[in-house]
Amino acid sequence: MDRKRAAVVMAAGQGTRMRSALAKVLHPVAERPMVAWPVELALALGCDPVVVVLGHQREAVAAALAAEFPEAPVVVAVQAEQLGTAHAVDCARAALAGFAGDVFILSGDVPTLRAETLQAFDAAAGDATVAVAGMRLAAPGAYGRLVRDAQGRLSRIVEARDCAPSELAISEVNSGLYRVDARFLFGTLGTLDRDNAQGEFYLTDIVARAAETGHTVVGHVLAGEAADELLGVNDRVDLAAAETRMQARLRRTAMLAGASFLQPETVRLGHRVRIGADSVIEGGVSLLGRTRIGPNCVVEQGARLIDAEVGEGSTVRAHSVLEGAFLGADCAVGPFARLREGTVLHPGVRIGNFVETKKAELLAGVKAGHLAYLGDCRIGAETNVGAGTITCNYDGAAKHFTEVGAKVFIGSDTQLVAPVRVGDGAFVGAGSTVVADVPAGALALSRSRQVNIEGWVARKAPKKPIKAGAKTPPAQE
Ligand code: UD1
Ligand code: CA
Repeated sequence: MDRKRAAVVMAAGQGTRMRSALAKVLHPVAERPMVAWPVELALALGCDPVVVVLGHQREAVAAALAAEFPEAPVVVAVQAEQLGTAHAVDCARAALAGFAGDVFILSGDVPTLRAETLQAFDAAAGDATVAVAGMRLAAPGAYGRLVRDAQGRLSRIVEARDCAPSELAISEVNSGLYRVDARFLFGTLGTLDRDNAQGEFYLTDIVARAAETGHTVVGHVLAGEAADELLGVNDRVDLAAAETRMQARLRRTAMLAGASFLQPETVRLGHRVRIGADSVIEGGVSLLGRTRIGPNCVVEQGARLIDAEVGEGSTVRAHSVLEGAFLGADCAVGPFARLREGTVLHPGVRIGNFVETKKAELLAGVKAGHLAYLGDCRIGAETNVGAGTITCNYDGAAKHFTEVGAKVFIGSDTQLVAPVRVGDGAFVGAGSTVVADVPAGALALSRSRQVNIEGWVARKAPKKPIKAGAKTPPAQE
């Protein structure tokens, strides 16, 4: 029978080297607090419960976890004072009371470990009492060194600061990922001392204890990309490197699901984003939040979409910004369009350059090709919105609604002063300021009549005589 699994995620440290007011594990990776990644991983592996040990900013971290995992068996344990990694795990003792089986120990600052790698580690650990995932590094730096006995078995871990010179040369290091039998773990943690260079309770000391007492110890060393997954975040340079790895992974998943990327390394994705098959994502695009791109779409250079939904066959042209906007099938927006929250485009809508929309429902086939502001409005099917049209939705105190019917023609440079309605099939002459409802089928004109003053230019012209043969300027229309 499979052994039961639980997890402890260590996340109590402040992360001094981040030089940040924000706790390290709350810094986002792919738009998600870093700590959520190892927690999700442990849940994916079937760990129940997943105990997250919190210290610095524990209320904020606990709130972030509750938001990320409202349903899952994620439990918080408190380590008020950071006395070392052994002490951190020991703080999960009460939360794991009565648990028998394997405890995975992960770090809240290792965001890019993948489930496949963790599973391979679990398999390699076999029935060991203590298993440690190691990495082989050309520059082992400050990591703990894996010390092996004459038979090549892992016998202890020595922190870099406690290393003898010969031990410092060891290139196999402790990644900080462990799988430990629960009974052995909690039977041992309380018996460790802090007799070391940092005066801390070292979790790593359980390795020597297990080896000395005849328990099976496995040191499973990962190399190459699998080892990179285990790299932790200690400063902002590490954070950027983790983000880069995560972005590469998210893009790869999207590409394997059928989306094309023209310059993949320049595209940023949020972890919740989904892209349909045969869609093309050009360079410099950001797809964030809960953005969904349907199949057969094109998102051109430099577009930024947050919580946007783009229907099948639609095109988002270059440098458009969409936030909380919903596009039906076969729409085209941009270049340089700004679609804000509550924008709903029905199929076949065309939005051109420098058009801003907010809380705007545009029914099928509406065209707004140039330079418009459409806010708090509903525009009927196949209506044409002329260049420079503005819904004046704000009177200085409250917002008001504009309702335009189907197959309406709104002439260029029209102001629709809300609340106002334009009936089906109506015409609004260019340059009109519409302050009263327009009945269906009517022509609305509200502008002053044009006056032409004959000969005005010549009379106003400078006194200099006009040279013979020079053309007189044409009268303006
Ligand atoms: C630890 C390991 C080291 C390993 C390295 C991998 C020990 C003694 N050393 O060293 O062998 O190579 O990780 O990154 O375990 N934390 C707490 N409470 C504490 C102390 C730490 O929650 O009291 C958390 C930190 O917030 C962090 C993680 O545990 O998420 C690791 O702690 P850190 O101090 O970074 O350990 P290292 O010195 O890096
Ligand atoms: Ca560390």
